[in-house]
Amino acid sequence: MTLEGKITLITGASVGIGKAIAQLFARKGAQIALNYRSDRSVAERTLNSLEGKSHILAHGDISNPASAQNLVETVVNGFGRLDVLVNNAGIFINHPIKNVAYEQWLSAWNLTLGTNLLGAANVSYWAVQAMLKNNGGRIVNISSRGAFRGEPDSPAYGASKAGMNAMSQSLAKALAPLNILVFAVAPGFVSTERILSKHTPEQVKELSSQSPLGRMTSPDEVAEAVLFLATAAPPAMTGSITDVNGASYLRT
Ligand SMILES: NC(=O)c1ccc[n+]([C@@H]2O[C@H](COP(=O)([O-])OP(=O)(O)OC[C@H]3O[C@@H](n4cnc5c(N)ncnc54)[C@H](OP(=O)(O)O)[C@@H]3O)[C@@H](O)[C@H]2O)c1
Repeated sequence: MTLEGKITLITGASVGIGKAIAQLFARKGAQIALNYRSDRSVAERTLNSLEGKSHILAHGDISNPASAQNLVETVVNGFGRLDVLVNNAGIFINHPIKNVAYEQWLSAWNLTLGTNLLGAANVSYWAVQAMLKNNGGRIVNISSRGAFRGEPDSPAYGASKAGMNAMSQSLAKALAPLNILVFAVAPGFVSTERILSKHTPEQVKELSSQSPLGRMTSPDEVAEAVLFLATAAPPAMTGSITDVNGASYLRT
């Protein structure tokens, strides 16, 4: 599974799952455009941890249409083309309907859909224009188990990821004739810095027990699944949504 010389844009890649994907892809020979939004020094540290040369930082807020366009243009101008896009950037806001004021509810829906769904759509639009110029590419969308299982305390998150799954399927149909393949990956709880820091040891134990493996999925395991889809997955898998949740939630 090599990505030798493949130009890969990963959104939200300075921490967490995106960082693990960037590190694995770099080990496999990809040239990474590492998108970050807020903290340049954290992004630089991750960039410096990547194997190989010629990786770049690509600043941009994907929820802002002009910024998303500029982000992809920076990558394409820098590298001359784009082969792989990983739509990884995402946010999760708690907004249980019985506890929040309407303003909070509305804000959570706008921010969540604006980032997780519209942000991915913004970047995908410009990435596809670039991929069409070099006869194809692959897009991997980082969705979530929450799209299927439900997110009682963050319904906008569940809806955003269900929307992302539907977008993946529609784009897979639209783009297969143009040699652009589109996949989604749906992790359960992943042991990122954010998840571990937000939960007490007791809560981490409970989250771990959701999987019969007795632990959360690691960021590296998600990265391995994304690597497969970006490289070896046969074209006939386009439009698929791959569960990476340690059998914590099974769907038929
Ligand atoms: N961790 C889990 O348990 C889990 C489970 C299922 C699915 N997922 C999905 O996997 C993806 C990565 O999750 P994670 O846990 O690694 O998240 P994380 O640690 O919170 O990192 C998210 C990244 O997204 C970036 N980001 C957020 N909004 C952005 C925007 N508007 N424009 C550009 N970048 C933005 C953040 O950048 P800044 O820090 O600069 O804001 C950050 O680098 C997300 O889509 C998430 O929904 C995660």
